[in-house]
Amino acid sequence: MSVFYLTTPIYYVNATPHLGHAYTTIVADAMARWRRLAGDDVWFLTGTDEHGDKIAQAAAKAGVPPQAYADRISGAFREAWQALGITNDDFIRTTEPRHQTVVQAILQTLRDAGEIYLGTYGGHYCFGCERFYTDKEIVAGTCPDHRTPLTWIEEENYFFTMSKYQRWLIEHVERHPDFIRPERYRNEILGFLRDPLQDLSISRPRTRLEWGIPLPFDDRYVTYVWFDALINYVSALGGPGDPRFERYWPHAQHLIGKDILKPHAVYWPCMLKAYGEALGRGDDLVYRHLNVHGYWGLGGGKMSKSIGNVVEALALKDRYGNDAFRYFVMREMVFGLDADFSEEAFVGRLNADLANDLGNLVARATTLIARAAPASAPHLAAVSADAQGVRLAAGETRHIVESAMHEFAFSRALGQIWEFVAVLNRYIDTTQPWALAKDPDRLGALNRVLVTLADSLRFLGIVLQPFLPDAARRVREALGDERAPRLANAAVGRLDTIPPVTKLSGLFPRVEARKEQPAAGARITIDDFGRVELRVAEVLAAEPVPKSRKLLKLTVSLGAEQRTLVAGIAEHYAPADLVGKKVVVVANLEPATLMGVESNGMVLAGSADGTLAVLTLDRDLPPGARVR
Ligand code: MSP
Repeated sequence: MSVFYLTTPIYYVNATPHLGHAYTTIVADAMARWRRLAGDDVWFLTGTDEHGDKIAQAAAKAGVPPQAYADRISGAFREAWQALGITNDDFIRTTEPRHQTVVQAILQTLRDAGEIYLGTYGGHYCFGCERFYTDKEIVAGTCPDHRTPLTWIEEENYFFTMSKYQRWLIEHVERHPDFIRPERYRNEILGFLRDPLQDLSISRPRTRLEWGIPLPFDDRYVTYVWFDALINYVSALGGPGDPRFERYWPHAQHLIGKDILKPHAVYWPCMLKAYGEALGRGDDLVYRHLNVHGYWGLGGGKMSKSIGNVVEALALKDRYGNDAFRYFVMREMVFGLDADFSEEAFVGRLNADLANDLGNLVARATTLIARAAPASAPHLAAVSADAQGVRLAAGETRHIVESAMHEFAFSRALGQIWEFVAVLNRYIDTTQPWALAKDPDRLGALNRVLVTLADSLRFLGIVLQPFLPDAARRVREALGDERAPRLANAAVGRLDTIPPVTKLSGLFPRVEARKEQPAAGARITIDDFGRVELRVAEVLAAEPVPKSRKLLKLTVSLGAEQRTLVAGIAEHYAPADLVGKKVVVVANLEPATLMGVESNGMVLAGSADGTLAVLTLDRDLPPGARVR
């Protein structure tokens, strides 16, 4: 059994949880569940970061003491994670005594080892970021993040001898290619380390900031928030000497967003190296991997609480369900790269991947199996090439998902599971079990298909568990699979009975995208109207849509191109009456399929009292002319 320790960043308590926080915590949860599924001994930590200027300021603004403020927001994070079904083993708060004790012990050890000294520092400080900016980073005299003016501050402070570890860190990153991953972030850090590394100021005078952990050797100062916060990963395990620390820390992996790469990839390893040296444990305390993901944006903009453009994660989860939310964020974002969030994309994936591909598969397969009588020793035809294909695809899927998850490539893992879902949908289409069921001579072939499908759904009920915990549980329940899900059982080809199966339809109901409909009678702007592309179209051909009373299929010319449109006007116009007419169409509508015919636009028509009239022109214009 392997041991696995995974952490998320501890979130600042100056704002309530949003999509960005939820993403990190969800992927961490999926990873923790995956490793548990694989049989590992997992410890999964999250928590809140509660000290520092930003929080003191937010509390002051809210008119409450910082601790009361931190209690409230930290509680909101905990509740959010509970509502999202997050399976963290611990939740650390930096205002807890168990954390403060370890921070002070580490500070004292480093001070005693000569790794912390008193010096003077002057620099451009951003109160929003709680950090000094170097001349290189400053943009037109302002903070590159907030775009607000910086304040020049000069003060006596304690410093950590970080510069001393620069050479060691470069070598460490070079010797361990997957220490920081994906590679783009490793390269970013190696690039950063080409310039000389400064010592790190690790204290703030209490005259300026009260809200922090006092330095054990000089109580005129509190600990700089990053030095305090990073240590949470260690303090939550009780620190060196604690059995939990000794068990889990050697397997520590951190998961963060790219915004906090530098503290995690530079300060933290240097701190751990210095601390390890002071304890006579050398490099032993340096964590194993730093896994870095990109940023979610909303329509191209950056989303963060300081900028105020946030999405309430829980509102989305409530609207679309927990599993759909998890699926979307993990599938949409390629781990390491940025992604854009939109409700439309969300609904698109929900309908296509969840309702259509997976939901339909589960409904079709469980309906077919439920119809057949359960049989403990069914007459089974030999494994056909199709069934063999399914077995191989399952094996390959497991292999690829395992290797993707090894690298935190959630999107790739899900993409592969959906390949398998497609294989199964095709398997049903080609074997046509409903036709086999009509022929008593083909019972063996039918049973083979049903066993293969039951086996494949059991496989999905296991491998989907880390990603879609509720849906996976429902699939396992429908199949009467009461075994605790274990990756070791994820294989197709071992089942030779037809289990009793309950039909499971509507696993993921289709949803309509919420349209921002203006209230009836409300005015729209000229820009709203301008989004509708109206054009003159000449009808080249018209014919009834088979089996439909109302629909006509029109072939129209828009000048440069021809289109097929479906119009609900068959009861009012004979096809021949329309040919040669110039009508007005909406040219930028998304395609829609009506009675099996894809329509690429809409003909404008008015109606009143049962009369319908298609809009035509009172003077001639060429096809394609814009109508406004
Ligand atoms: N308190 C520090 C972290 C200390 S860890 C020792 C902090 N907190 S934070 O509340 O600002 O959270 C930052 C983290 O939230 C990011 O690293 C990322 O995990 C997540 N995200 C916040 N906004 C995000 C996006 N827009 N997109 C993706 N993740 C984002 O920094």
